[in-house]
Amino acid sequence: MVIKKVSLDIVIGVTSRLPETDRPEFAFAGRSNVGKSSLLNALILRKNYARTSSQPGKTQTINYYNVNDEFFLVDLPGYGYAKVSEETRAKWGRMIERYLRQSKELRQVFLLVDMRHEPTANDCQMIGWIRESGFTPVVIATKADKLSRNEQNKMIPVIRKKLEMKKEELLIPFSAETKAGRDEVAALIDGMLSDQAAEEG
Ligand code: GTP
Ligand code: MG
Repeated sequence: MVIKKVSLDIVIGVTSRLPETDRPEFAFAGRSNVGKSSLLNALILRKNYARTSSQPGKTQTINYYNVNDEFFLVDLPGYGYAKVSEETRAKWGRMIERYLRQSKELRQVFLLVDMRHEPTANDCQMIGWIRESGFTPVVIATKADKLSRNEQNKMIPVIRKKLEMKKEELLIPFSAETKAGRDEVAALIDGMLSDQAAEEG
């Protein structure tokens, strides 16, 4: 993935209509504070282009980052953020679900989970939505730098089991600190883009 240019082209709020884009989209879903915006920055080789924060609930809109005028990386709002009202949380949930169901150009959804913890009920619901929308989920286990190699090896099967992942479903450990896993995610996206180019002949 060669990054020639990046721009934040589309920002939509809870009540907005989804835009009809004409380029492939790759989306990042996961709990608030799990590291979605940080992964996006690692992919586009920028430090804080997608705004990150140690306070959960930073990204509250669906943000479409245009990469090279070729495809969009889509930063979704985090779910499970305790400090907002039940009603707001429900709205965000519906917005994310609607996005997964309706985006015509969506090619893949990456589900991010914090590698230190067992996935939550919300994570299980999210991977369910991803499968129901017809995708083979790719799980990215974030903040890998916070665990030793040994601890990582212990957590991987815990996460796979909780999310009922099949053997063929990928789990990629990732760290925004060390950039471990970054190239693997970038290569997956490249692969999906070139499959598409081959199909279009
Ligand atoms: P929302 O926008 O609130 O949904 O959060 P987000 O999922 O976009 O998380 P964000 O990327 O803003 O990261 C949240 C916090 O975790 C920030 O303080 C990041 O610096 C930190 N963080 C993210 N990824 C990593 C990582 O791989 N390792 C470490 N050590 N910290 C990370
Ligand atoms: Mg964010």
